[in-house]
Amino acid sequence: MSEQEEMSYSQSIQEASSSITRFPLIPIRGVPLMNHIANNFDSIQAFSPDPSDIFIATYPKAGTTWTQEIVDLLVHNGDAELCKRAPTPVRSPFLEIFSPPPIPSGLELLTKMDPPRIIKTHLPFHLVPPGFWENKCKTIYVARNAKDNMVSYFYFDKMNMTQPEPGPWGGYVHKFMRGELSWGSWYDHVKGYWVEREKRNILYLFFEDIKENPRREIERIMRYLDLSLSDEVISRIVELTSFKNMKENPMSNYTCIPSNVFDQSVSPFMRKGEVGDWKNHFTPEQLKMFDEDYEKQMKDVDIPFRSLI
Ligand code: A3P
Repeated sequence: MSEQEEMSYSQSIQEASSSITRFPLIPIRGVPLMNHIANNFDSIQAFSPDPSDIFIATYPKAGTTWTQEIVDLLVHNGDAELCKRAPTPVRSPFLEIFSPPPIPSGLELLTKMDPPRIIKTHLPFHLVPPGFWENKCKTIYVARNAKDNMVSYFYFDKMNMTQPEPGPWGGYVHKFMRGELSWGSWYDHVKGYWVEREKRNILYLFFEDIKENPRREIERIMRYLDLSLSDEVISRIVELTSFKNMKENPMSNYTCIPSNVFDQSVSPFMRKGEVGDWKNHFTPEQLKMFDEDYEKQMKDVDIPFRSLI
């Protein structure tokens, strides 16, 4: 992709501003997806990656951008300047995203890039194009504890003018529990990839682990990608992917998206980047109800989530 094409990404969103709205959700195999995604679902399903492509899958707000930055730096040997060549969604396209023209879809961006590409998705396991598994693409899944994930999504839905209106927090908790948000149920999402992780050789990571010890988790990703970087380069990647640095980096903080689409005055994309912010949001009654429901929805798996106390 040329520099001009990369620059034109923000301009294309600007040009489409008048058709940007809080898009309705349409269910695809039981998963509510933005109408532009749902209407193009067949072409998304038909996408065939290259075996060398790297796939990053998450439920929205679980640490996708963080992981995309880490992976881009790992595959480019920690070259900070190279990893500032374009904003995150251009460097690492969002597989299923479709928006009003002239905004390029994820598929359009991907066709203009040579493999190996770093491809992002929020699709639950059962909606991933089968080509990813047929071609044995390396897949990194990042899961974040349900409560922090929901808080982060709540603020994102406030500032992202393409997502349905979140409404008040109390009602949002119920929508989350019922799987009514874009990309569906958090519970099904984290379970879907968990049960398939061994068969599909998926590296299943946790946001809380990366936060606790970024170096250890970055080294795990490095080994999974069959890379071998020096200690010095790893240290640089740890530093470049700190919350503070990514918040200040215009190529990772989503300031590439015009403010009438991502209104960062409502809530910044790089909001807090913490574990346990949920404690500032749940009432004791909401907590009790949520925890009881969580037990039921998660009873069939034993995924070692933390920060649920
Ligand atoms: P908060 O809203 O809790 O701050 P995604 O990229 O999947 O949309 O996830 C966004 C969430 O990851 C936001 O969480 C954001 O602040 C957090 N995040 C992004 N980069 C981070 C980093 N380098 N360190 C910690 N958290 C980060």
